[in-house]
Amino acid sequence: MEIRRYSKADETLLFDLLINEGDDWIDYHGPVGRIKYIKALESSITYIAYDENLVCGYVRCREDDGFGVYIYDLLVRKTHRGRRIGKTLLERVCEDFPNQPVYVMSDVDPYYEKLGYRREGSIFKIKAK
Ligand SMILES: CC(C)(COP(=O)(O)OP(=O)(O)OC[C@H]1O[C@@H](n2cnc3c(N)ncnc32)[C@H](O)[C@@H]1OP(=O)(O)O)[C@@H](O)C(=O)NCCC(=O)NCCS
Repeated sequence: MEIRRYSKADETLLFDLLINEGDDWIDYHGPVGRIKYIKALESSITYIAYDENLVCGYVRCREDDGFGVYIYDLLVRKTHRGRRIGKTLLERVCEDFPNQPVYVMSDVDPYYEKLGYRREGSIFKIKAK
């Protein structure tokens, strides 16, 4: 397994992972979502975990001009879970931004708690759309 920075050339294999996740990730790979997500990827910092010719996980984040790195998406392929790929992706972001705090928008608090990360703040929805 190798982790590297995502580039446009990885697009098809990354979407293969998203499609494989089914409707939970439809906002990203559905007909409208895909176009929007391709744009989001262009303006994000994304790392992918490769296992031979398969993208088995990825993390997408943005850097706030020196005020921290914010992780928006973390996903590991179902068949590859439990092999520390998620943890390794998170650690790679930390390694590449040694002088900045790194935050994650959590949907699965028990996972980040299990990894020993400290909760800081929370997110409120001000408006639905
Ligand atoms: C959550 C997710 C990223 C974990 O990826 P993973 O590569 O399987 O996780 P890791 O192998 O790094 O797990 C590290 C540890 O956390 C534990 N863990 C994994 N998922 C967990 C969960 N949902 N709750 C609590 N602990 C969890 C593992 O058992 C492992 O423990 P160990 O060190 O005692 O073996 C993966 O299950 C996934 O993609 N889920 C769907 C998308 C999602 O929920 N993304 C994160 C929310 S933003």
